[in-house]
Amino acid sequence: MKIYEQTAELLRSQILEQQLRPGDPLPSIRELSTRLNIGRNSVIHAYMLLEDEQLIEPRPRSGYYVRARALSQTSEARPEPRQVKLGATALAIIGAAQNARLVPLGSADPDARCSAREYFYRRLSRHAREIATAPGGNSHYVAPPGLHALRAQLARRCNATQVQADADDIVITNGTQEAVTLALLALARPGDTIAVESPCFYGTLQCIEALGMRALEIPGHPHTGMDMEALEQALTRWPVKAILTNPSFNNPTGACMPTAARQRLLQLAEAQDLPIIEDDVFGELCHQGSRPPPLKSLDSQGRVLLCSSLSKTLDSDIRIGWIMPGRYYEQVNYLKYVTTLASPGILQQAAADFLADNRYERHLRQVRRRYQSRLGLLLEAIYRYWPACAVPLIPQGGFLCWIELPTGFDGDRLYRAAQQAGIGITPGSLFASDDRFAHCIRLNYSTFEATPYYLQAIEALGDLIRAQLKPVT
Ligand SMILES: Cc1ncc(COP(=O)(O)O)c(C=O)c1O
Repeated sequence: MKIYEQTAELLRSQILEQQLRPGDPLPSIRELSTRLNIGRNSVIHAYMLLEDEQLIEPRPRSGYYVRARALSQTSEARPEPRQVKLGATALAIIGAAQNARLVPLGSADPDARCSAREYFYRRLSRHAREIATAPGGNSHYVAPPGLHALRAQLARRCNATQVQADADDIVITNGTQEAVTLALLALARPGDTIAVESPCFYGTLQCIEALGMRALEIPGHPHTGMDMEALEQALTRWPVKAILTNPSFNNPTGACMPTAARQRLLQLAEAQDLPIIEDDVFGELCHQGSRPPPLKSLDSQGRVLLCSSLSKTLDSDIRIGWIMPGRYYEQVNYLKYVTTLASPGILQQAAADFLADNRYERHLRQVRRRYQSRLGLLLEAIYRYWPACAVPLIPQGGFLCWIELPTGFDGDRLYRAAQQAGIGITPGSLFASDDRFAHCIRLNYSTFEATPYYLQAIEALGDLIRAQLKPVT
């Protein structure tokens, strides 16, 4: 073994045996080379190796730190189906987003200050004026599957992401939430089990709860998403009706499932002839490079139901989403009709016009860069103002940052104290059916800037975290 490999092995075993814990700083390169009497290059190489293994991470101007544990190590080893009982906190968080007095780090809304959004609303108002002035215009539903012009634009966009699509493969919905709900209704009945990744977006868990289904929470890895080994084992033990995943920039971790895991997921689903609901609502928001093709692009059997919307890329208030239900098209289209009859035609028309214009692509390029740089600003502020035991996961896309605090920390308590201090955050407890993530929190950085407004909020949160960590004397 080379010296750098020996050094990496020494540190690796200290991390795995928890002598070095998540958030602990590693010695500086100079310090370790002196202590072990080895060259600095060997230490640098050892650190690079451990960074590749995602055991440690560099922080700007502050050296290397032990990374957050793989979430799979913190979740239960053998997941079992559970009833979800999340309560009303999530509704309160969405409600709090309307409170302009709160610093907006809670609800997962995108940055609304952009010309693309203005353009969308200008198109909308043009259609509104036309309707208002059209003599004798008649009122009618734009029945499912929805406006053809919009479905054609969506199919064009799907094809650009390697998903073979035609306008007739798509059903328009009221956001991703309705798309996922229709998929669940089409695929399962009350009492059935749905495999989801853990942590899982609370809206999904609450939908499973409302439909009387059970969630089988498969551990997720902070960078690669749902753990395929754990899923494979769980599928041998439990009668699962569908797998629901958010593979491209998961809410809350920002994890992105690598291609090999996506292929494995499809193989596992194929082996048991299971459908997969793919929630792609953050898929366009990669921080670097081009967006990962949706899981649907690998599906030649119509078993993936692809769900998405304009909520995270443009405005959560537009409420235009879609589903490509594959072989479940007829059931989903009928369910859309019996549950909401139709989505508003005027919004569909404005969305079709908007997508036909190439400024959406420009807008996406802009927001991807913007969110990546805002993440950098948020991390810098966290490293500066928060105790080192607060370990942010580094998301690969989207605009949400998941932060692990020491086991036993009460994220709900921090959420309440932050509200009183005028700051919105999301408690980790919402992202599971039990309290396994009660020590975590999620921050939205879509509008974050290094201004006194945001920096003071991060500093205040740091003080609240320290106050809670202080041992009672
Ligand atoms: C993973 C995920 N899926 C679905 C939704 C709901 O999206 P929509 O506004 O398109 O209904 C959200 C909203 O935060 C989300 O984070």
